[in-house]
Amino acid sequence: MEKQIGSPERAIYHDKDRVIRPLNPWSETIHRLLDHLHTHGVAGCPRFIGVDGEQEVLSYIDGETYNYPLSGAIASHHALTSAASLLRQLHDASASFLSSNSEHQHQWMLPAQAPQEVICHGDFAPYNVALKGEVVSGVFDFDTAHPGPRVWDLAYAVYCWAPFKTDPMDALGTLSAQIERAKAFCDAYGASAAQCQMLVEMMIKRLAALVAFMQAEADAGNEQFKADIAQGHHLSYLADIDYLKQHQQIITLGLLTGK
Ligand SMILES: Nc1ncnc2c1ncn2[C@@H]1O[C@H](COP(=O)(O)OP(=O)(O)OP(=O)(O)O)[C@@H](O)[C@H]1O
Ligand SMILES: [Mg+2]
Repeated sequence: MEKQIGSPERAIYHDKDRVIRPLNPWSETIHRLLDHLHTHGVAGCPRFIGVDGEQEVLSYIDGETYNYPLSGAIASHHALTSAASLLRQLHDASASFLSSNSEHQHQWMLPAQAPQEVICHGDFAPYNVALKGEVVSGVFDFDTAHPGPRVWDLAYAVYCWAPFKTDPMDALGTLSAQIERAKAFCDAYGASAAQCQMLVEMMIKRLAALVAFMQAEADAGNEQFKADIAQGHHLSYLADIDYLKQHQQIITLGLLTGK
């Protein structure tokens, strides 16, 4: 029997080994991406099963799901490093997506960023993964996927997993604990020194782009984003930008040297 999952206002259902979600204008591109990831050996993402009227049918990723504030298995070191390994796997497998699908017109929810090295997940956060014990078994919610540099996606993932968040509902640990988690994520991803060097700058740019996107969508009449702005969701991103700017040097030093 179908069971509604996720936030009550979203029509997302779980039925046995399947998830049924509303289609979006970019869904066809995402379905091609999921097929590509599967063909290239990524087991930890949903498989595209089909379209049923106005809905998409995807495979269900078995495991526990979580949200902020992070506690229990999702806050563990294993969850952090297995998430980073999965992000690396996704990026590596997606690097050939654009060249092997060049005959198609792609449509993405978020604007592509240069250089288009990989397909970024776009929201690789603790609330979009499933866990088996302390190990990430998969990632879902590919709606925000878009082409871009690896570090663009890595920056947002590290921001979410460290997490460099200031809202008391989202925050976890001291600044030095956050830096340690950020470094562990970067190490498990296999980030280069050059990527670590630019990571905080990228987080700030990524968050600024997110706030600009929310505002533009709200101005264009998107009800979801109008509500988000009215509830002040963008203000916590702006506060996090300030936090990152304030601690940019010490975070970067920690990422590069572990000190
Ligand atoms: N393929 C999947 N496998 C397992 N669980 C899933 C899958 N897709 C969605 N879910 C569950 O449904 C919830 C909502 O789905 P999803 O993250 O795709 O949509 P959303 O737009 O982010 O909705 P919400 O705002 O509720 O988070 C997820 O947090 C997760 O618990
Ligand atoms: Mg989600």
